[in-house]
Amino acid sequence: MTLALPRPMRDPAENGRFGGFGGRFVPESLIPACEALEAAFREAWADPGFRQQLDRFRRVYAGRPTALTPAWNLSAELGITLLLKREDLAHTGSHKINNVLGQALLARRMGKTKLIAETGAGQHGVATATAAALFGLSATVYMGERDIARQALNVFRMQMLGAEVVPVTSGSRTLKDATNEAMRAWVGAVEDTHFCLGSVAGPHPYPWMVREFQRVIGDEARGQCAAELPASTPDVVVACVGGGSNAAGTFAGFVDTGARLVGVEAAGGAAMTDGSPGVVHGSRSMVLQDGHGQVAEAQSIAAGLDYPGIGPEHAHLGDLGRAEYVTVSDEEVLTALKRLARAEGIICALESAHAVAWVLRAAGTPELPAGSTVLLTLSGRGDKDMAQLMEATA
Ligand SMILES: Cc1ncc(COP(=O)(O)O)c(C=O)c1O
Repeated sequence: MTLALPRPMRDPAENGRFGGFGGRFVPESLIPACEALEAAFREAWADPGFRQQLDRFRRVYAGRPTALTPAWNLSAELGITLLLKREDLAHTGSHKINNVLGQALLARRMGKTKLIAETGAGQHGVATATAAALFGLSATVYMGERDIARQALNVFRMQMLGAEVVPVTSGSRTLKDATNEAMRAWVGAVEDTHFCLGSVAGPHPYPWMVREFQRVIGDEARGQCAAELPASTPDVVVACVGGGSNAAGTFAGFVDTGARLVGVEAAGGAAMTDGSPGVVHGSRSMVLQDGHGQVAEAQSIAAGLDYPGIGPEHAHLGDLGRAEYVTVSDEEVLTALKRLARAEGIICALESAHAVAWVLRAAGTPELPAGSTVLLTLSGRGDKDMAQLMEATA
């Protein structure tokens, strides 16, 4: 008798585990809040009315479906067929709005009046501030001081939208520390506050729930690829990975095909490549750690990838061998951002440029042979990075 193995990217086990990863490692006081959130999400996700409501906001507010654009010029230069899933065209400028619309609707359904969130690049903070404005909720966004300095435009956008931005001065003053502070703030405010977490990380049910809210990227792209490609599905699906939400949403649409799934991490924040199993921000996953098991600091030019962990489902997909994780350097990212801009007229976010950088390096090698078809998720647009780039290239 052969035992049926759980198919990857289905629901996690009851205890929120994806294989040996995931779970709910939080202070006692947060367990009831996580349980209530899980119950509310299960109920809402099974309710066609909730799905229709979310669908409508995605269409008439967020601008979905986003386009699938052939990268005509780069494809010709590289000898491959490269298709870009354009999350940069979604309202607020990145994929983060997909998850936030879902969570804000859920928060309202649960009777919560306040949202708190963590942010690195500011895109998740802007999306949270946006949904809070739309649904009449208050928003408090925790952001590391270092990220506040390099993503000043997004700080101002959040403030314009009526959100409070709280500077976090501990540790590396980046996303890891902002997440710590947001979780700490949630402990004291669970009654009326929803913690709107921005990636497929954190305690159960966040990694699963956020992946489900982001799977719209992969589901749309699957249909769009079928219209563009003779073989209907691409040979390779690639996306950048910070916590891993745009990649998880993209992979979910293709996990049952023969496509290779490739996640691209920042070389200085490569939890899959350089990390080991550990617990960070409420779940067990791959984590960058020092010799004493302390969470180490990441270092990336892209604030959204400057994170020492990765979502637990990615750790599981990597373990199964279903997805591969690679790294690119900051220099490769800068080159890729400029090359995409000049070849296709698209200025993408520094985070998204990681996926482009891998394609540029791999194309024409055994890693990505000539003639390959590639779907690449462009997770966001580059406006937020222009001041940083002006400084870097001055
Ligand atoms: C444009 C963009 N892409 C990617 C990311 C990384 O997040 P994730 O790995 O959850 O998609 C961020 C995070 O801020 C982002 O702003």
